Amino acid sequence: MLADAPLAVEVKHVSKAYGDLHLLCNVSFELRIGELVAVVGPSGAGKSTLLHVLGGLQPANSGEIRLGGQLLSGLRGNALADFRNRKLGFVFQQAMLLPEFTAEENLMIPALIAGYNNKTAKARSHELAEILGVAERLSHKPSALSGGEQQRFAVARALMNRPDLILADEPSGNLDQSQANDLHHLFGELRSKFHQTLLVVTHNPSLAVEADRVFRLERGTLSEISSSDLHHDTPRH
Ligand SMILES: Nc1ncnc2c1ncn2[C@@H]1O[C@H](COP(=O)(O)OP(=O)(O)O)[C@@H](O)[C@H]1O
Ligand SMILES: [Mg+2]
Repeated sequence: MLADAPLAVEVKHVSKAYGDLHLLCNVSFELRIGELVAVVGPSGAGKSTLLHVLGGLQPANSGEIRLGGQLLSGLRGNALADFRNRKLGFVFQQAMLLPEFTAEENLMIPALIAGYNNKTAKARSHELAEILGVAERLSHKPSALSGGEQQRFAVARALMNRPDLILADEPSGNLDQSQANDLHHLFGELRSKFHQTLLVVTHNPSLAVEADRVFRLERGTLSEISSSDLHHDTPRH
């Protein structure tokens, strides 16, 4: 279905080690624009490290990463920070909304930092809150929101500057199953309705229902598995 879409992410022969700990060994893969891909693997396998390397938060030891055609290693300092702010959205296990601000203000902050005016930032925060089903919660402080609502606002915040790629690290890790299902369904909608590209690290099999592909990272190797393997998560012999 997405075979003709242009590439959002090109990873070629990327390796990353911390000392003797070889987390990524000659990893290569591509993501097409509008693809939702889940990444699974045992704790400590390097899933977060993979996202950090892709997001330019950690340098790879070798290999090439292109995001939207741009070579990541060609960007340094301010150019890299600017690229991250405009092209990438990050979602973590904790929503990390600023507690002293309302949800609306939390959404507006990254847009204001990127140089949008107040009116535009406000309009965009309302548009996204509407899409994510939390518009009526905009005036609340994070402490008055459920875990699922907080994570929806965290996703909305990641989308504020219209990023090309969302990198999410166990975003449903703190949610109950029903809230996790809702979040995963939302990721599916972002992909199909808005052509958002998403790479989501998860332990939760329910994301497989929405994902186009599932990658497994183990012992430095990234391999594509079928979503039924994710349900059982048992090694094949
Ligand atoms: N900045 C770092 N320096 C040294 N070791 C690190 C660093 N970041 C992660 N590690 C180590 O790399 C391994 C993989 O970590 P991580 O990418 O967080 O795995 P996962 O997300 O799959 O659980 C862990 O053993 C961790 O301690
Ligand atoms: Mg991790």
